[in-house]
Amino acid sequence: MPKLTVKDLNVRGQRVLVRVDYNVPLEEKDGQMVITDATRIVETLPTLRLLIEQGGKLILAAHLGRPKGKREPSMSLRPVAQKLADLLSRHVAFVDDCIGEKVEQTAGALKPGDVLLLENVRFYKEEEANDPAFAEKLAKVAEVYVNDAFGAAHRAHASTEGVARVIARRGGKCAAGLLMERELKFLGDELEKPAHPFVVILGSAKVSDKIQVIDRLLEKADALLIGGAMAYTFRLAQGYQTGKSLIEPDRTEVAKTALAKAKQRGVKFLLPLDDVVAVPVKTDKLDKKGKPVIEYQEVRVNAEMNCPANAAGLDIGPKTVQAYTHEVAQAKTILWNRPMGLFEAKRFAEGTNAVARAVAAVTQKHGAKRIIGGGDSVKALNKAKLGDQVTFMSTGGGASLEFLEGKELPGVAALQDR
Ligand code: 3PG
Ligand code: MG
Repeated sequence: MPKLTVKDLNVRGQRVLVRVDYNVPLEEKDGQMVITDATRIVETLPTLRLLIEQGGKLILAAHLGRPKGKREPSMSLRPVAQKLADLLSRHVAFVDDCIGEKVEQTAGALKPGDVLLLENVRFYKEEEANDPAFAEKLAKVAEVYVNDAFGAAHRAHASTEGVARVIARRGGKCAAGLLMERELKFLGDELEKPAHPFVVILGSAKVSDKIQVIDRLLEKADALLIGGAMAYTFRLAQGYQTGKSLIEPDRTEVAKTALAKAKQRGVKFLLPLDDVVAVPVKTDKLDKKGKPVIEYQEVRVNAEMNCPANAAGLDIGPKTVQAYTHEVAQAKTILWNRPMGLFEAKRFAEGTNAVARAVAAVTQKHGAKRIIGGGDSVKALNKAKLGDQVTFMSTGGGASLEFLEGKELPGVAALQDR
């Protein structure tokens, strides 16, 4: 690890601003926001415990959702403070702001080993704008900066990038947390020299989001298994009908290029052989964004490569599950990012759950090195109660992919070298 890490620090008595990725899935239950998957919180505990043991005064900054610079009560980090307190078995203070007087007072009163969680940094639009004055305000309460938010390291925001520059300029240390270090090591080392067969499972709505990583992975992988709506852009490129499925008609050339590269390099490029389709119907109900809620009717397995004109593909079908399971069963290294379908809805979750089971099964049998990228795939594994059977699950979605594309992550770049 070329970057400074928390293991190189001694923060006794110092105030440490720790950027964590607590962008966890929440669900409203009886008027309260409940955390449905705490993986991202649990994964930061080693860093927090180390800093607590060293006698640091911890000030945690994080974002939740995309409130776009406004106070959005459903995106408050307050429920996370409670969860963190339970997990750490110690009091976690919470301030309903991330800058200003109240924060300064509370931070000033911290004793060695105390933990304070600040409110969602994205309640200020200056966060995503990486506004220098806002970064100064965030930095005001701390002498040291630790970034353990691997999942947000692809964002050059004030709390992930700007604040590190401010603290470094003042002569303070800026180091990676243990989770950040672990993520970079696994994704870096393991994917540099993966154990073969290396099987990549990619789901996503858009080819455009994934094309760069597909291009890069075609140089490393033995097989690519495609799910999600982007499969339909590939089908379109192959001349099939896609019905009402989500497609990017302007990306068929890109899709063709990827297919040709796979062929030329002898990489298996598997697309769904069948799917679960349904007729989408707009209802009078509006969702949170004010868009009509879509209801899916006539859910059925479609055994053909052509999608019926009035239907959309929403999950991979049973034949595809069989084919993908077979590929996964041979794997020594697996990278999985994003679900195979609209898995939030039970009727379209079977493909994703079946892939999760296959990944867990090969882990137990061959001790394959599983590298799972992406919050959604982690949630799928946890939902199927298979999460603890996997050696390594990345807490990053977009961050893992940008890293695998070979891009420098701004949140990492801003940390000091050893
Ligand atoms: C994530 O969940 O992808 C990270 O927390 C970053 O969030 P963002 O995609 O809203 O920037
Ligand atoms: Mg994201």
